[in-house]
Amino acid sequence: MVSLVVVAVFLLCGTLFQPPQTAAFKPLFQDGSITHREITQMAILRKTAEVCRDIATAQGRDFTLPINNRLTTSAVHEACTTSSTSSSALATLSFYSAITETYLSNAVVDQVFALSEAHHIDNEAFSEGRDLITRGVAAVKASVQQKSYISARISLGALCHTLQDFYSHSNWVELGSTAPFSTLIKPDLPLNNIAGPSTPTCKSCTWPNCGDNILPEILLQKKLTSGYFSIFSSTKPAGKCSHGGFFDRTSSREPTGGINKDDISSDHGFLHKRAAEMAINATMEVLQDIRLATGNQAFLRLMGLSQTSVLAFVIDTTGSMSDDIEEAKRVSFSIIDSRRGTSEEPSEYILVPFNDPDFGPLTRTEDADLFKRRINSLSASGGGDLPEMCLSGLLLALAGAPQSSDIFVFTDAAAKDLELKSTVQVMIERTKSTVTFLLTSPFSFRRRRDVSQSQGFTSRSIPLSDIQLYRDLAHVSGGQAIEVTKATLSLATAVITDASTSALVTLFQVVRNPGIAENFTFVLDPSLSNVTVYVTGDSPVFTLYSPTGESQSGSVADGPLGSILTVGNLKRVKLNSTSQTGELKISINSTSSYSLKITGQSSVNFLFNFVERLEGGDFTPKANRPFTGRNATLFVSVTGGDSVTVTDVLLVEASGSNVVNGTIKALGATDFLVNIDRIPEWPFVVQLKGLLNDSTTRSLPSRFQRQSPTQQQGSRFTITAQPNSTIEPGTPFVLNFTLLTNATGGSYTIRARTDRSFSVSFPSSLNAGTEGSAQGTITLTAPSNTESGTDVTLTIEAEDPESSDSNYVALRFTVMTKVTDFSSPVCQVVSIKADCPVECSRASWELSTNLTDGNGTGIVGVSLSRGNGSLSLSNMMSADGTNVTVAFYNASCCSQEVELVAVDRVGNVGTCFTSIKSPSTTVSPSGSTTVSLNGSTTVSLKGSTTVSLNGSYSVSFSMCVALFGLLLSFLYG
Ligand SMILES: *[C@@H]1O[C@H](CO)[C@@H](O)[C@H](O)[C@H]1NC(C)=O
Ligand SMILES: *[C@@H]1O[C@H](CO)[C@@H](O)[C@H](O)[C@H]1NC(C)=O
Ligand SMILES: *[C@@H]1O[C@H](CO)[C@@H](O)[C@H](O)[C@H]1NC(C)=O
Repeated sequence: MVSLVVVAVFLLCGTLFQPPQTAAFKPLFQDGSITHREITQMAILRKTAEVCRDIATAQGRDFTLPINNRLTTSAVHEACTTSSTSSSALATLSFYSAITETYLSNAVVDQVFALSEAHHIDNEAFSEGRDLITRGVAAVKASVQQKSYISARISLGALCHTLQDFYSHSNWVELGSTAPFSTLIKPDLPLNNIAGPSTPTCKSCTWPNCGDNILPEILLQKKLTSGYFSIFSSTKPAGKCSHGGFFDRTSSREPTGGINKDDISSDHGFLHKRAAEMAINATMEVLQDIRLATGNQAFLRLMGLSQTSVLAFVIDTTGSMSDDIEEAKRVSFSIIDSRRGTSEEPSEYILVPFNDPDFGPLTRTEDADLFKRRINSLSASGGGDLPEMCLSGLLLALAGAPQSSDIFVFTDAAAKDLELKSTVQVMIERTKSTVTFLLTSPFSFRRRRDVSQSQGFTSRSIPLSDIQLYRDLAHVSGGQAIEVTKATLSLATAVITDASTSALVTLFQVVRNPGIAENFTFVLDPSLSNVTVYVTGDSPVFTLYSPTGESQSGSVADGPLGSILTVGNLKRVKLNSTSQTGELKISINSTSSYSLKITGQSSVNFLFNFVERLEGGDFTPKANRPFTGRNATLFVSVTGGDSVTVTDVLLVEASGSNVVNGTIKALGATDFLVNIDRIPEWPFVVQLKGLLNDSTTRSLPSRFQRQSPTQQQGSRFTITAQPNSTIEPGTPFVLNFTLLTNATGGSYTIRARTDRSFSVSFPSSLNAGTEGSAQGTITLTAPSNTESGTDVTLTIEAEDPESSDSNYVALRFTVMTKVTDFSSPVCQVVSIKADCPVECSRASWELSTNLTDGNGTGIVGVSLSRGNGSLSLSNMMSADGTNVTVAFYNASCCSQEVELVAVDRVGNVGTCFTSIKSPSTTVSPSGSTTVSLNGSTTVSLKGSTTVSLNGSYSVSFSMCVALFGLLLSFLYG
């Protein structure tokens, strides 16, 4: 009866409250048990460490970090970056964010697909679950190919959820398995030995013990089953196992009890740890497949590891902009050329041109020379009399850039596409990216009218109300609206050089509008370098006071505290390194509006995400504005050290001095849950204060503070939508969303759009009836020629026209043509010549193999994942008309093993391992294969064969056709 009432409550409140967390390893936090978060994080840390180790080994460097389940994010980050010149040891945030993005996407599955059997491999839905996993893997690979790493992480997190749940919900562990079930990531292998639909699998538990409820014959015959689960009905096929637990009504029916290993108190909780460890190994296996398909460098990018800073420009290309474009070129070329090959080199470049009516395309590249060519080919032409598509261009850049990027917009005109303002603001909130505007119209108006009229342009100037738009967007993002003349723009672009360093952190930021005399203090900690203070506004008067009491007025260009650059409405103070620890004070006096921003370089930073409590205690990510006036929870991670104490997490009013204090609960050393009693009415930034415990110097802990540059805000209603990570080009995709409010009635304006101008249809308004909820439907269509792996961001906004309160959901989709090629490339050895003397360095050996992709999409890449010899490739057509890639490998006899990796167009991976070690070892294969020897003889080998000739060398060649797992060995005498 109790559970009936509970279920009824969920049904009634189903639209307002989260469904119970029921059907999985716990998503994020659960004392004493291993959650999806920890499984995903550990697998990523271990696999990433392996990749870094292999790269280090190949380059002859040491890698001493032991790879085990005790790895920490900061230790892996340090080991991966310290000896590599091209990644910055300071730039910690992107690695933490990538891991967080992945496990939050994993956790979302429990919320939005709570009752889907396939997503959790309940109800013996092995085949459907595997489809989700393998389609997810294909989407990850396609996204990585398009450098859409955020989308790739979303797909990766979601597929990992299903993959990991298999180990908790099936009897794989109970069957005594010692390795992951690889068939789950290999779509063309048969799913053998699944218990038939009418095969009984369980008997009732003998309470209080529920350990041995799986039928002995199931265990004996190694039949695979998973538990049935329903919160609605107790019906299940006769004799089947249940999931078990409080919410599972099927487990109260014969056979009673369940088999899940979700946490330590589950019916099979005694196997929880083993299932979780197996899930870590299975997650590593799928990461290895992705790594082989994408290559080591792209894999590390996917993990956010080789990301330093992003250089992102959105540039107006109208006729009057030629000076500005020249300056954008100059400053970017100077950054690229002066930092090439150093750890300060930007890791990614983004360029979006716009004018009227065009904007885009988005260039997103890791290749500095490609970026240079693109920016070189920009030319100022046309336009001149009309406002431009500035916000459309900015929207593309926001959706295309990594999280927390610094984006610079160059324009001298008002924005025409004002209707995008709220969407741009939503994307700023979502991506936590900072936007700085370099506006060259306001003061150059007169000069430019003369110049431009003589060139046939009509005069342009940005009216104050439009400058205010740019100021507003700069403000919400934590950037600046810098107003300068064309002649002085080259001084102002120093802010771009400042921001394009790795590990940029914000210490403090305020905006005062109208201006007011005020003193601000902030703490400079020893981890900081290159601290810079920016003051923008109509000539505000200010004085800086160092921790030791020295002072410098804002009108003194060079003083004891630093050097001050004044250009347009910007003052930028570069602090001397001597004034860089302790409490700094800045005293500002101005009657007009001003902004103050202080940045520095440091590995110590933080990331935060709102999470919502589920029934049962755990949390799910909340991907939009929290409820105003209600309590909320922030999940905070501090980067850059294994030992920090967080003393304060504050919501600070963005344009005032109100503060809401959070209650902090530590989860391990660097993660924290912060409870906020009441989300304020006003927009806010998140400020974090704490102590850095420096174990190396044994000095006293030092105070530090950081602040989120981007603003967040609450809303009195929310929107939820079921995300779907992939859509097919040319096929309309229908998406339902729900608007929920705690008020009754009311009409809400709806807006939906994509960053790529895909066709979207949606209701223009929704009425929240007396229940305070309304459903809407959106149809989204990607053009049929959209390339697989393209990502598109859909924002759905709802606004209450009376209060102008609004909320949103922002969903990322990967456009994917249905993958039909599930077969991996295969290899066939043609010859091995290994006449190796005992003194191995005196001779070399050779291998020649043919690689083919059968009826598949064709081999697009062949590389070495083991062996340091030389590989050469050529293509030929075989007698039966198939394309053959001939790989010729030559290595020193001291390097006795080689593994070739062949990848086809959709990312299926085939590997091919050959060893000339003696005595040879081979793994036992199943099935048989043929090998053609010297191009003529064909031998057929079955099972594991090791041939040894003349007692000298046995050459074992294993042909790891990934799909068939075949191995064979043969000898070349
Ligand atoms: C996971 O893999 C490691 C390393 O291969 C192995 O030692 C461990 O036993 C595996 N764990 C399980 C539960 O299979
Ligand atoms: C700011 O600090 C200065 C110097 O310590 C002091 O003279 C001034 O009164 C303060 N101003 C405000 C508004 O608190
Ligand atoms: C930042 O600080 C470091 C160390 O103090 C210094 O070597 C480097 O040149 C500075 N970078 C910039 C861009 O000023």
